[in-house]
Amino acid sequence: MPKDTVVKPATVTCTAPVNIAVVKYWGKRNEGLILPINSSLSVTLHQDQLKTTTTVASCRSFQEDRIWLNGKEEDINHPRLQSCLREIRRLARKRRNDGDSSVDVGCLSHKVHICSVNNFPTAAGLASSAAGFACLVYTLAKVYGVDGELSGIARQGSGSACRSMYGGFVQWIMGEREDGKDSVAQQVEPESHWPDLRVLVLVASAERKPVGSTAGMQTSVETSNLLKHRAESVVPDRMKQMIEAVHKKDFATFAELTMRDSNQFHATCLDTFPPIFYLNTVSRHVISLVHQYNRHYGEARVAYTFDAGPNAVIYTLQQHVAEFLQVVRLVFPPDNNNGKTFLTGLQVEPVEISEELKNAICLEPMSKGISYIISTQAGPGPRVLEDPGQHLLGSDGLPKTDA
Ligand code: DP6
Repeated sequence: MPKDTVVKPATVTCTAPVNIAVVKYWGKRNEGLILPINSSLSVTLHQDQLKTTTTVASCRSFQEDRIWLNGKEEDINHPRLQSCLREIRRLARKRRNDGDSSVDVGCLSHKVHICSVNNFPTAAGLASSAAGFACLVYTLAKVYGVDGELSGIARQGSGSACRSMYGGFVQWIMGEREDGKDSVAQQVEPESHWPDLRVLVLVASAERKPVGSTAGMQTSVETSNLLKHRAESVVPDRMKQMIEAVHKKDFATFAELTMRDSNQFHATCLDTFPPIFYLNTVSRHVISLVHQYNRHYGEARVAYTFDAGPNAVIYTLQQHVAEFLQVVRLVFPPDNNNGKTFLTGLQVEPVEISEELKNAICLEPMSKGISYIISTQAGPGPRVLEDPGQHLLGSDGLPKTDA
């Protein structure tokens, strides 16, 4: 091929956030379409601390669709990846047939190369699939020129991914339809709504990989009556109360509902047969610490929540962060030899804690229980990176060596 006719790929790079649910999604009524048995609500975390970056390149010279995740080529035939690719291409074709001129007709017949990286260790067990699928769908949509509601497609990659399509406070409405068209995410409030809200991710030093959420929730649906009760009789009211607490920035209510919901989710895991244990001794120590701290002040100043693993996510307010962190350091003395900084993300100035507070915390120190803490806040939804220097794929359509 003469040099001046060498085909260059059309390349787009985007980033997408992690989200942490305060009303949990656990259980599907349709495995293929990923339709949940209850609605859920989450806070989108800031991408300055936690994000996935994805580059999609589309080119007529590509022979096949390919994907690289965190530096390694993976199987593009994974059914959930295929669902997202198929659905976004179907949507693009539909829009084009409906006369939408922004859809890139050329790209639609080309294969894509996808390269994706997280700025946090996958091993930290931080809902990487949510940010990953949200980023994939958002980036593909930009390549094909489709806008609008895309959370229903992200949902088909991983349920919780639909909530990462928006910033701030996001609900996933379970929907009723068999085809899942009404099972979509919706922003409840933007990230600017509650500027004092802070998030601390306490990364527990896990000994082993727990049961994955997809398999775990399937067993729960099959065996737990408590899960059925939760979905039918608890979550509908809790969603209303949580949305109101978010609207009003009522932290005490938000905190209590968050802790109760996490506890009920883990109770359904214990009610699953055979039971699933996501919380470990470190998690239980964090739970006791939070309750003792709140009891000392006679109000809920801090809340915990746990997903399908032992890491605690703490929600609190700006004015309590420094003191609570100091208490965490007391109960979980940092391991200074691990070469990492104990606290990463938003900086927090150390403070002195009172003797009364120290005496109120009756817990044995557990050294090395928490390996590090990420300090963050609510943040925006997916974004396009305009600078071509940030593409993870080179002009040859292959990962740059450092991607
Ligand atoms: C405990 O979204 O990872 O984090 O839909 O099977 O991919 P799949 O499951 P996934 O489940 C997340 C479960 C959770 C609670 C939540 O995020 O709401």
